[in-house]
Amino acid sequence: MVMFQTTEKGRYLLRIETSFSRLLGCDLPILVAPMFLVSNVDMVVAAGEAGAVGSFPALNVRPVEKLQGWLQEIRRRSNKPYGVNLIVNRSNPYLQQQIEICLACQVPLFIASLGNPSQLIEKAHAAGSKVFCDVIGLEHARKAVSVGADGLIAVSSGAGGHAGAISPFALVPYLKQQFPQVPIVAAGSISDGRGMAAAFALGADGVSMGTRFIASSECPVVDEYKQAIVASSPEDIVLTYKMDGVAANVINTPYVQKIGTELGWLEKRLLRSSRLRHWLMGLRVLNSMPLLKNAVEKSTWKKLWGAGQGAGLVKDIKPTAELLERIVREYEAVRAHLPAGVEHKA
Ligand SMILES: Cc1cc2nc3c(=O)[nH]c(=O)nc-3n(C[C@H](O)[C@H](O)[C@H](O)COP(=O)(O)O)c2cc1C
Repeated sequence: MVMFQTTEKGRYLLRIETSFSRLLGCDLPILVAPMFLVSNVDMVVAAGEAGAVGSFPALNVRPVEKLQGWLQEIRRRSNKPYGVNLIVNRSNPYLQQQIEICLACQVPLFIASLGNPSQLIEKAHAAGSKVFCDVIGLEHARKAVSVGADGLIAVSSGAGGHAGAISPFALVPYLKQQFPQVPIVAAGSISDGRGMAAAFALGADGVSMGTRFIASSECPVVDEYKQAIVASSPEDIVLTYKMDGVAANVINTPYVQKIGTELGWLEKRLLRSSRLRHWLMGLRVLNSMPLLKNAVEKSTWKKLWGAGQGAGLVKDIKPTAELLERIVREYEAVRAHLPAGVEHKA
């Protein structure tokens, strides 16, 4: 049974305990996923105060010197755990500065993506922080665990933003089987409590939800983007390589159709070289940044909007706390009907 508690600060959900929530000290094993140009301080605070773990990509804060201000504001408004996402490959020129600022502000959780996390893990562990790594398959997961990752985020096909190619039905139980010692967080197309229950039945210890929370009151993106998520069906989501060369799911707007989703032959060749890949990715992000930023901030015909196939389940725009409460109620309703043995309690 889900229990709620009302205090002067609002309504709180009581705990659903898994290895994820125990490790991070949160009430709900739900990560409100980091989203480039989308996540902000309000989303992080709202998620944390409602019992989940909010997060944001450090690259959302520019110039990098402002990062400390974001971290201080989060701490001033909430004492709950939260996460910062860092791109740990050479396409991120600000990595060292971001790590230093985050460690000075005692960031509880890092989410490492797109590279070798070993240096980050070493420094984070020395400071008492945890590191979860985004992975899309066994090879990357093995490397992450071998250098001490505290958890894996299994990014499946259908996820918003950078997506894997493997179905969550295969990826989540496979990673759990290979790495039973670390919490596995399922990511990709989980937009309600049924998805969360399914992820736990597959062996996940937590879920990461992005697209669902773009359509939240706290999310700072232009209303047209939120409405497009509400209006999208799973078929309206397409995979494109045009953002930074890595496969990413976006809404299939007329603009996406106009520019196409595939790279030219020269870029495809450059991406095959491990030396040139980071350079090309960095260049592509730099080039597409003003376009992406415009598309999330204002009304423009160049609509380039990241979203996963779980957009099909998003039918409203609500405050984060209300969404989380509903997700947990739905989860409990499904769980009550599942066979015994799928409950992830201590
Ligand atoms: C618009 C958008 C931007 C994203 N940006 C990032 C990012 O900067 N770093 C990252 O690790 N993941 C990013 N993601 C992926 C999410 O962290 C998460 O894995 C994903 O949203 C889960 O799938 P879902 O959207 O289907 O819930 C992004 C996702 C979206 C929708």
